[in-house]
Amino acid sequence: MQRVFSGIQPSGELHLGNYLGAVRNWVRMQDDHDCFFCIVDYHAITQDYEIDKLRSRTLDMAASLLAAGIDPGRAVVFVQSHIPEHTELAWVFTTVTPIGELERMTQFKDKARRQESVLAGLLNYPVLQAADVLLYKADMVPVGEDQVQHIELMREIARKWNIRYREGFFPEPQPAVTDARRIIGLDGQAKMSKSLGNTIGIQDDSEGIWQRLRPAVTDPARVKRSDPGTPDLCNIYSLHRHFSAPDTVDEVATKCRTAAWGCLDCKRILGDNVATTFAPIRERANQLRANPEQVLDVLHEGATRARAVAQDTMQQVRELMGLMPEERTVRRDK
Ligand code: TYM
Repeated sequence: MQRVFSGIQPSGELHLGNYLGAVRNWVRMQDDHDCFFCIVDYHAITQDYEIDKLRSRTLDMAASLLAAGIDPGRAVVFVQSHIPEHTELAWVFTTVTPIGELERMTQFKDKARRQESVLAGLLNYPVLQAADVLLYKADMVPVGEDQVQHIELMREIARKWNIRYREGFFPEPQPAVTDARRIIGLDGQAKMSKSLGNTIGIQDDSEGIWQRLRPAVTDPARVKRSDPGTPDLCNIYSLHRHFSAPDTVDEVATKCRTAAWGCLDCKRILGDNVATTFAPIRERANQLRANPEQVLDVLHEGATRARAVAQDTMQQVRELMGLMPEERTVRRDK
């Protein structure tokens, strides 16, 4: 069975973009892959964050993943910082990663532009990500499009380490993206992202979803209700394709082009369909939130299973790199 690894930051609640771009694919892959899913809290601290919320957000993300269909019976679900080998291998990888490669990462450039003083953790972010995946020698990484560049770098890191220390030791993992690889936010412009405030949360109820959708940007050329629209230029239409049945999608397109429906009519239907899709997830997440011990147990069990693999890889890495193992001196009593 091929091994799959993916991660998500506990930097806010699970949103529609994460769900369609990555998590829904994780759920599918559990059927026929050996899956590891990780809540990457060490990545989340590379940007400003609220210290007193990190813990609850981590637990909350775990509850959301389980509610979305991640099954701890078939996948290993754990928290990155519970396995110190992630940061250990990341350090090792910094010694084979050219700084120039890190500086040209799009996400780094975007985030660095918004900061007065750029910290080394932000630059090294993709090195830790490489360690996450390669520690488990995963073959496939289901992610959204924004992570593909990081996976290309990860492949290069694996190659460089292998050339220096042991040919074929680390695999070169492949990204697995879906047709929802880049969900645009409700501003109709940027990638849907918590930090931009252009999301629909997976926990939002139907009223909450409607409040988010109502002001969402549609086809910019459709100014008046009576103007015919161009569905292919409308982000709401592209969301319909992920949430509505094919005949509804066709009807939306026709009624938009002929101005038989206004944008609000179209959003109402989308809102109902999003709410229907997310309602069972929301209910399960609420149940889990009321029973945090259940989630903590899953994470404990996940860490135990992840640790066994991580320690084994790290021991081999240390050995291949010539690091001295800790040994007890044998005392010979005379
Ligand atoms: P994060 O937490 O930003 O996002 C989690 C996953 O959701 C995807 N995603 C999207 N997909 C489509 N459209 C969107 N608008 C959208 N927004 C987010 C992301 O591509 C991602 O797959 N660096 C990673 C976390 C990470 C990781 C890893 C991933 C750390 N280590 C190892 C894979 C393997 C990140 O920031 O994800």
